[in-house]
Amino acid sequence: MQDSFDRSITYLRVSVTDRCDFRCFYCMPENIEFLPRTDLLSFEELDQVCTRFVERGVTKLRLTGGEPLVRRGILDFIKRFSRHLGTGALKELTLTTNGSQLAKYAFDLKACGINRINVSLDTLDPIKFAEITRRGRINDVLAGLDAAQEAGLKVKINTVALKGLNELELSAMVKWCGERGFDLTLIETMPLGDIGGDRTDHYLNLDTVRTQLERDWTLTPSTHRTGGPARYYEIGETGQRLGLITPLSEHFCDTCNRMRLTCTGTLYMCLGQDRSVNLRDALRADARLTKLNAAMDHALTLKPKGHEFVIAPGRGGPALKRHMSVTGG
Ligand code: 5AD
Ligand code: SF4
Repeated sequence: MQDSFDRSITYLRVSVTDRCDFRCFYCMPENIEFLPRTDLLSFEELDQVCTRFVERGVTKLRLTGGEPLVRRGILDFIKRFSRHLGTGALKELTLTTNGSQLAKYAFDLKACGINRINVSLDTLDPIKFAEITRRGRINDVLAGLDAAQEAGLKVKINTVALKGLNELELSAMVKWCGERGFDLTLIETMPLGDIGGDRTDHYLNLDTVRTQLERDWTLTPSTHRTGGPARYYEIGETGQRLGLITPLSEHFCDTCNRMRLTCTGTLYMCLGQDRSVNLRDALRADARLTKLNAAMDHALTLKPKGHEFVIAPGRGGPALKRHMSVTGG
């Protein structure tokens, strides 16, 4: 799949549910109303759409949410869909999870051919963890991480850098990840979805963070690229990789290879753009998939050259109305 700016679109991120067992304050309001279950693509429909994408050239697929592992039946879906790894059409199937259910699922995920997962963890302090997630228990996540390692899954930790919350802990996080053999990616808060408050209060610029980390760690820019917004560094002392995702302070769009499918079957070609294509209706309208194919073709023409986020003092509201948990992080 080729877009209007000659970028090859080979990476699909799929939100399988907007639901989550956590309520991270930067992600959703405490009293968020989730979508009615009937709005979601069924697993059968998800399989059809994702399979079509694989047939059209998607080689990497990431399951996200919400929390993907809280949707009932997810493991059966993954087992079935992993047939595309078997044929070689799909090179990689991965998952972004908050880790709460990982102790239960790690071995099965590995058995399905998933080799790497991203686990979101913003702090190692149990009290701060409960504060940030509003209802998570850090011990569940730590047990999940143990299970993941036992199962042989390679883990990358995603940490949202939060001023006044985990700001002073980030160097310790680098150390802990080094000891555990985890890569670490730090993420700036992004203005997605109303969260019932002002996100700029906790916005932390990652250039500042990097300067601070360089007092403790030797960071060498790495050539590693994923086609996404992260810049990578090798951490001399630990041998692990550090990624910095700074979508707001820097442009990364030239090499963007990705698109996002929501749990209701809406396809977004850019995290920072509202235009979308409704693949659910296209799929339901026509069993021979002609409409689905046409909708995919149309989507490719929508992918913008670059995004338009703004987060600045006094602009605390969301740049886009939809939440990360709907579009997929
Ligand atoms: N800004 C930045 N990161 C976010 N995440 C969820 N919402 C936001 C936001 N508004 C993060 C999660 C997870 C990743 C998938 O996205 O914490 O690490
Ligand atoms: Fe759930 Fe992830 Fe959002 Fe936290 S950031 S509430 S874990 S979807």
